[in-house]
Amino acid sequence: MRKPFIAGNWKMNLERKSALDLVARIKEHVGARDDVDVAVFPPFVYVDEVARALRGSKIAVGAQNCCDEPHGAFTGEISAAQLADVGATLVILGHSERRHVYGEGNELVNRKVHAALDKGLAVILCVGETLEQRQAKQTEKVIGGQLTAGLAGVSARDLLKITIAYEPVWAIGTGQVATAKQAGEAHAYLRGVLGGVYTDSLADQTRIQYGGSVKPDNVKELLLVPDVDGCLVGGASLKAETFLPLIDGRRMR
Ligand code: PGA
Repeated sequence: MRKPFIAGNWKMNLERKSALDLVARIKEHVGARDDVDVAVFPPFVYVDEVARALRGSKIAVGAQNCCDEPHGAFTGEISAAQLADVGATLVILGHSERRHVYGEGNELVNRKVHAALDKGLAVILCVGETLEQRQAKQTEKVIGGQLTAGLAGVSARDLLKITIAYEPVWAIGTGQVATAKQAGEAHAYLRGVLGGVYTDSLADQTRIQYGGSVKPDNVKELLLVPDVDGCLVGGASLKAETFLPLIDGRRMR
């Protein structure tokens, strides 16, 4: 049985006070619950302070990206070891904004996955097709390719530290959420690919989140889809009023 995993990707939003106010609300809301995993992904500069604020809670803190190199002359980059040092236990890699705005390709994403795993970070590996690719019926080819390339060389043991996030690019920040049918098809396909590369049993244990315009009014339907194991949330993760109901999404069943 896969526990739902609700993750808030703050992107380049919030500042010290609003971040700390939000995590205080999340901490209070989650308390000692163990029916759901929750993580927040602040901008780099707040990871340390948010991790301190959440110490002793059940909420994990991660970063939105990391460098593929362990250290050295890489101006503006942050290493996986530095993230782990300030309390991050997770990192989001291959987010569509990294792929499409900053030109990150599958090979770079794969190197980042290895860099993160080497330092003990868990990974949310994002995959997703653009609208043009969906319309050209290339969804499976694109997301299957991103998945296998992103996981190249990752051992079965390390797969247990990876969550997959299916995030159709056309649904991110647009208010246009995938239907339960679209999400279900993509998630089942990704799980099948994982089963082919690893084993069915490992594929069965791997969580696949949905991301893209998840909101309190659509989360219930998405979390009812058998292969949807939680969500990666942008806009709705920035306010307690919209994020806390997502944490309770599965309870509405
Ligand atoms: P959104 O972003 O919820 O604002 O669509 C999702 C994401 O990019 O992870």
